[in-house]
Amino acid sequence: MRILTVGDIVASDGREFIYNNLGRIKKKFNIDYCIANGENSANTNGITLDIAKNLIMSGVDVITLGNHTFANREYAGVLNDNERVIRPANYPSETEGSGYFVDDLGNVRIGVINAMGRINMEALDCPFRATEKIIENIKDKTDIIIIDFHCETSSEKLAFGNYFDGKATAVFGTHTHIQTADEHILPNGTGYISDLGMTGVRDSILGVKKEIIMDLYYTRKKYRFEKAEGEVWFSGAIFEIDDKTKKVLGIERLHFSAAELAKME
Ligand SMILES: [Fe+2]
Ligand SMILES: [Fe+2]
Repeated sequence: MRILTVGDIVASDGREFIYNNLGRIKKKFNIDYCIANGENSANTNGITLDIAKNLIMSGVDVITLGNHTFANREYAGVLNDNERVIRPANYPSETEGSGYFVDDLGNVRIGVINAMGRINMEALDCPFRATEKIIENIKDKTDIIIIDFHCETSSEKLAFGNYFDGKATAVFGTHTHIQTADEHILPNGTGYISDLGMTGVRDSILGVKKEIIMDLYYTRKKYRFEKAEGEVWFSGAIFEIDDKTKKVLGIERLHFSAAELAKME
């Protein structure tokens, strides 16, 4: 089975790219299942009811979130109404929605977990313990467990990946919007990549107009972010999983524009 994971979909350009091209991508790469991070999919960050619906209609099976979970006022509706949209599990227990989703496809049961790091991020409950608890809960009801660890630093991500080596099928990172070239299979069989990167305008910083972020660092002035304009690049990775053992056989990193995709077809 081939599971496609998609890095942070940013703003209208990123989500339009998914609406228009995910079907082609799934066909081209023989994809059976798709998990995408949607924490920046609304123009003001967060996600709306319409966007969640459209991403799922375009072929995303589970949408994960991150530190921008609550950025759009529709968040409670999204999390309460759609079990396929999950938020980091280590938010307080009163938070709307769930930190995981189990999808029973008949021949295989896939558990998807979302957790968030704590270094240079919000002070949340421990992501290791929150994830451990969920795995304990769902391990007998799942054949495959995939975790989106939304996190800033590669060291915290690697510690998390190695902690769940052999307990999860795969761990991928999101949040930095920069794809890392460190995809590999950990010693006990868990597929791992520190960050999938972003699906959004490439000539940008985080999908935001470069001038705004440069000014932020140069002058320390913070003002309203505006989304960048330009060519969109898709970023993600495919985890190829053995149908019998349910172990990762290989990981393929993806990074291309619509024009690059057309050349591959
Ligand atoms: Fe993001
Ligand atoms: Fe984030």
